[in-house]
Order: sequence, then structure tokens, then C-alpha cells
Amino acid sequence: MAKTAELILDGKSYKLPVVEGTEKEVAIDISNLLEETGAITLDFGYKNTGATKSAITFLDGDKGILRHRGYSIEDLAAKSSFLEVAYLLIFGELPMKDQLDKFSDDIKRHTMVHEDIKKILDGFPSSSHPMGVLASMFCAQTAFYPESLDPNRSAEGVYLSIVRSLAKMPTFAAWAYKNAMGHPVNYPDNSLNYTARFLKMLYALPAEQYEVDPVVADALDKLLILHADHEQNCSTSTVRIVGSSKASIYSSISAGINALWGPLHGGANQEVILMLEAIRKDGGDTEKWINKAKDKNSGFRLMGFGHRVYKNFDPRAKIIKKTADEVLSKLGVNDPVLDIALKLEEVALRDPYFIERKLYPNVDFYSGIIYRALGIPVDMFTVMFAMGRLPGWIAQWKELRENKEPIGRPRQIYTGQNLREYVPIDKR
Ligand code: SDX
Repeated sequence: MAKTAELILDGKSYKLPVVEGTEKEVAIDISNLLEETGAITLDFGYKNTGATKSAITFLDGDKGILRHRGYSIEDLAAKSSFLEVAYLLIFGELPMKDQLDKFSDDIKRHTMVHEDIKKILDGFPSSSHPMGVLASMFCAQTAFYPESLDPNRSAEGVYLSIVRSLAKMPTFAAWAYKNAMGHPVNYPDNSLNYTARFLKMLYALPAEQYEVDPVVADALDKLLILHADHEQNCSTSTVRIVGSSKASIYSSISAGINALWGPLHGGANQEVILMLEAIRKDGGDTEKWINKAKDKNSGFRLMGFGHRVYKNFDPRAKIIKKTADEVLSKLGVNDPVLDIALKLEEVALRDPYFIERKLYPNVDFYSGIIYRALGIPVDMFTVMFAMGRLPGWIAQWKELRENKEPIGRPRQIYTGQNLREYVPIDKR
């Protein structure tokens, strides 16, 4: 017997179907609520609202669980590679060796970008934030590949767009950085693997032999895995709603890049480092800053803390914290802000304000410390998040299109003026 929920509105009873997922999550299906009751639901920030059914990522916020297609993030971060996780997210299964080799080769074939993209890049002053440059170049692919605008594109055509997206994102990201530095851009060296190829484009200088440090490449590959997907977060929901209008993959993902930029979302990793630096310059008094974070009138939040879903440790934060220790000691880097971050975490986690609100370090709290140790500048931190999240955005966009989901169009409760007569300006 299918489970139902009962709603009583104005004395009338309505039975609503209950949906259960493979991990026993429960939802009340309100697809016909307006038609049956004349009422809608209201849920600012969609804190209690599911927008879709998805088979890609499972989160359990209370237990601090994150799995991609059933595989734990702990296993994937320790044993997989970013390109293998990208394949898993997008196509649903871990690839066989020949499948991964073909995927990697297909991507290598498309790492170059049209030279005319440089005309767009040249239009951005070096003071431009790399996220704005990245979003613009990524969307510009609609101009170079107009066939991607076809909403009924063949599976082969969609695959080509997927490969182009993964292939060119690192090139765009490195070029955005070179633009900010006022340096000439580098072209992709396809003799290297995905992450090393990016690092060489990012750091190589003309007439200098650049060797990729395997410690740096491995650490970055793991960070990209840890950012690869996170179910219906703000930027992924943006990609889905843009994709639901049958917009191209490039414009949908460009919208996601812009949503990720915000300081409450992917932009938090940049804000964390700026916060830690400010605390360090202020003398490192963590108690003082924890008290500021608790004071609603201070306008200050402990960046990198708190999460809409995790009411326990963000499993990614645990892995990144451990990786930060390993990478900094391997590279012989001693970053004073790491000690401040560790102290902040220790003080916050025993403070009733944070305990009551279940505020723990999230993915952004320690990631910036590693990026900085890898030599990546603060303005590029959210670009790194976007590079990591790309396969998740692709997978979610593809799933939405394959499931033929309707265009996203939420309703509202109107709170404005009731009907009133127009008054000509000379009579007002
Ligand atoms: C990401 O959704 C995802 O999955 C996102 C992400 C992904 O992988 O895609 O995990 C990536 O975006 C991580 C989050 C990065 N953002 C930050 O670190 C910014 C700082 N954190 C917050 O602003 C906040 O915690 C959010 C945005 C992450 C979550 O906000 P919610 O769920 O809307 O919670 P809220 O703002 O309503 O806060 C609930 C309470 C409030 O206090 P009360 O009104 O109940 O008294 O907790 C307080 C908030 O004031 N609070 C904080 C706080 N975060 C929440 N107080 C101090 N410092 C903080 N960081």
C-alpha cells in the first residue's frame, strides 16, 4: 500500500503521495497540490523542498556522509583520480581502463581553444576577477560551437560538448590567471595528465623549463575530486534551472560559475583566507573573532563554517584538513594561518552558539590553506572550485535532460498593492 500524508486545509482533508528514495529519504509529493487545494507551499531558500530525483550524489547531513553513485568520498579521494570521478559522475559507473583511456584521449583532443577567444580575454583588464573572465569565456563557446544550441542534439553531440567543457575549462582557468598577472598565456601540453597539464599552463613562464611537482599535482587532483559534486547546492540548482529551459550546456554551466562566485557559496574559500589573514594581522585573538561571529550586529560570519545540509562535520573538510597537514609538510611550507584555523575550529566546536546551531567547518574552511601552499593566488580559489565542480554540473545537467524534466518555474505569494486606478501625472 503506497504511503500517503494527510493535509487538512479549511477543514478539508487531502491525501498526498509519499515518495521514498533508495537511502530511505522521504518526500511528500506536492506536484498536484495547487490544482487540488488552490494553495502552494512557501519555503525561502528551498530549505525543505526537493526540486528533483537524482541518482548522482547522496548526502546525509546528520551523519556527515557523501557518496557519488554509491561510492564514498573517502574511497574516491584516497583511491581514484579526478578524471575517473568525472566519468563516474557523468556516465554512472567507474570506467574500465579502455573507457578511461578513451575519455582522457578525447579530452586531450579538445584542450585548445579558438584563438578568437583571446580577443575576449584581451577585453578584460588585468584587475578583472578571474571568475568573471572564466564565466564569460565558458559561455563564449556557444559562439564557436553553435550546434550546441540545438535542444534536441544527438547523444554524440552532447558527448562532444561534455568533452569540450572538461577539456577547455583548465585552459580558460589558466588563461584567466595569466590575464590577471599580465603574462602571456600558455598552450596545453597534452603529454601531461589533466591536472599536471593545468598546472603547467598556470605557472610556466616564457623561456623557462617548468617541471610539474608531483606533490602539487596529486594534492590538486584530490582537491578537484573533493569538489566534484554536491547534489542540489546553489550553483548546481542554477545549472539545472537554466538547463531546464533547454539552454545549451555552455550557458547553463556559465550560469553555475556565476552562482558559485558568491561569498556564501564557492566564494567562501577566498573569504576564509582573507578572514584568517585579518585575524593574524589583528594579533590572532581567536576568542575575539568567535565572539564577533556570534554577535548578529557585527555583520561578521565565520567563513568556512556552517552548512545548509551538514549538521555534522563536512566529510570533505576532514579529508582536506588531513591533506593540508601532509601537503604543507611535504612542501616544507609553514603557514601561520593554519594554526589560526585550527585554533578557530577548536574554540568554535566547544562554544554553545556553534554547538546549538550545529555549525562545523565546511569544504571551504581548509581548502584555501592548501591552494595557497600550492602557490595558487586567493583570487583563483573559487576558479579551482569551479574546475572541480564542473563534472557535477555536467552530470546534473545531463540527468535533467535525459529525465525530460519540465522547465523550472517556482510560484510566489504576492504581497504588493491591490488593484488601483491609474492617476495621470498632473492629477497626482
Ligand atoms: C558551500 O550547499 C552546498 O552543498 C554548498 C557546498 C557545495 O559543495 O556546493 O557545500 C559549498 O557553499 C559551503 C558553504 C560555504 N559558505 C560559507 O562558509 C559562508 C559561511 N556560512 C554561512 O553563511 C552559512 O552557514 C551557510 C550559507 C553555509 C548556510 O546558511 P543557512 O543554511 O541558510 O543557515 P543560516 O544562514 O540560516 O544560519 C542558521 C544560523 C543563524 O543563526 P540564528 O539566526 O539561528 O541565530 O546559524 C548562524 C546564522 O546566523 N550561522 C552562522 C554561520 N553560519 C550560520 N553564524 C556565524 N558564522 C557562520 N559561518
